[in-house]
Amino acid sequence: MSVPVTCKDFFCTESHPQPVGIIIFGASGDLTSRKLLPSLFNLFLRGLMPDDFYILGVARTEFTDETFREKVKESLTGDNGKIQDFLERTFYTQGEYDSISLYSDLKWRIKDLEKRFTTKGNKIFYMAVPPSLYLPIVENLGDLGLTSQENAFSRVIIEKPFGFDLDSANELDKKLHMTLKEDQIYRIDHYLGKETVQNILIFRFANSIFEPVWNNRYIDNVQITVAEDIGVEHRAGYYEHAGLVRDMFQNHMMQLLSLVTIEPPSTFDADEIHNEKVKIFRSIRPFPLDDLDSWFVRGQYGRGKIDGKEVVSYVEEPGVNPNSKVETFAAAKFMIDNWRWSGVPFYMRSGKRLQKRVSEIIITFKRVPHSIFPQLPVKNIPSNILKINIQPEEGIVLSFQAKHPGPKLCMSTLTMDFKYTEVFGTRPPEAYERLLLDCMFGDQTLFIRDDVMRESWKIFTPLIKKWESEKDISKLDIYEAGTWGPASSDELIKKDGREWYNAL
Ligand code: BG6
Repeated sequence: MSVPVTCKDFFCTESHPQPVGIIIFGASGDLTSRKLLPSLFNLFLRGLMPDDFYILGVARTEFTDETFREKVKESLTGDNGKIQDFLERTFYTQGEYDSISLYSDLKWRIKDLEKRFTTKGNKIFYMAVPPSLYLPIVENLGDLGLTSQENAFSRVIIEKPFGFDLDSANELDKKLHMTLKEDQIYRIDHYLGKETVQNILIFRFANSIFEPVWNNRYIDNVQITVAEDIGVEHRAGYYEHAGLVRDMFQNHMMQLLSLVTIEPPSTFDADEIHNEKVKIFRSIRPFPLDDLDSWFVRGQYGRGKIDGKEVVSYVEEPGVNPNSKVETFAAAKFMIDNWRWSGVPFYMRSGKRLQKRVSEIIITFKRVPHSIFPQLPVKNIPSNILKINIQPEEGIVLSFQAKHPGPKLCMSTLTMDFKYTEVFGTRPPEAYERLLLDCMFGDQTLFIRDDVMRESWKIFTPLIKKWESEKDISKLDIYEAGTWGPASSDELIKKDGREWYNAL
């Protein structure tokens, strides 16, 4: 049974950003055409772009403004007239990222566009390029004064991965800070831009009924699953050096965990929220390296079927080393040693080529302390479960027991469902829209502050180092594509007398 949800008395605030030029490095790439330009265009359609703006794509591929616009057009859908207006503000500069001439060309181009579109010198640079280019690009921009904030703002959005372990992340950060101040660096984690992820804080801190039970007295355990049915696709070059723990756990999964577990910040302000995230990450119990397999299991997909179609194993994917020991799945039990969470296990798992694409957070409450119903022992009264569906069916579901019509003692489990699309009549906007807009506003709440990034790396770096140094003997379980991962993942949670909640 679903209980209808109605939406009333809503409170929305959205300001209008200042004029800005958005300069995208890596403009011929996938991210730009799949996410960045469509998101900017949607903001434009929704009237949320500043009145004065331009977009300048930069990449190595040969394009003129005209041929670039043709490519951009292919990635946009909607009103043709609006597409045309948008394209008229879109430009392109070609060059090699390590060549000084690119940056001097850019300097003049930007000056000219700033005059034409009266953007008052405000700039956002988006690094949609491989990580090895972040630093050289920023240094070159800095040398030409393009990162100066005199009378204007200059912000840099940095894609993940931000470093490959604690040392490399620190090194990159230190060097970026020679050119940029922290308030100019926007480390992106697109999960934070998802509406349902942002909703976690509203749900927790704009309702008084959940906070009293949001702790170890009432919560039995929390599960966070981020499952994908796709494989590594064409990203073997990156993935072979990253693996799932770096690709998903260090960033997206940890951000989800932090939003569920932080203490109420004093205000809805970037620094206040980041301070709480640092505290929670510091409270995570370090994984015991001498007994790691009992806490953290890794797997790699073998052959199997997805939607009835045969798919190859990870090591058979193009560009993957046939002897690769890179993990495409991980499941772990996290403990948070603080007053609120002491004793509550957080089971987290993520993987590629799993049974279905689903991201959800499942909060299982403790059973009632005592059964007043004859013949119905406590263990037969199910726990209340709160499920936060991040994607693809965005929403929230709360289960509870109710009297079933008929005999005097007859009980069943019902759910109260809020489905985003049913209530709001539309799918949530693309995560990048929110994040790009927030960067225009100078709001870093949904970006990762340097110390938050560092604390997260501190948790994973010892594990990654251990697995890498013992590559040939470290446990890596092969699982059949199209399942929920290796048996060891089920065992990890079964040991505690619990099981994974697998989405149907
Ligand atoms: C990216 C990872 O950050 O997130 C990918 O690099 C992953 O490997 C993707 O597929 C998942 O994002 P989403 O929004 O599709 O859940």
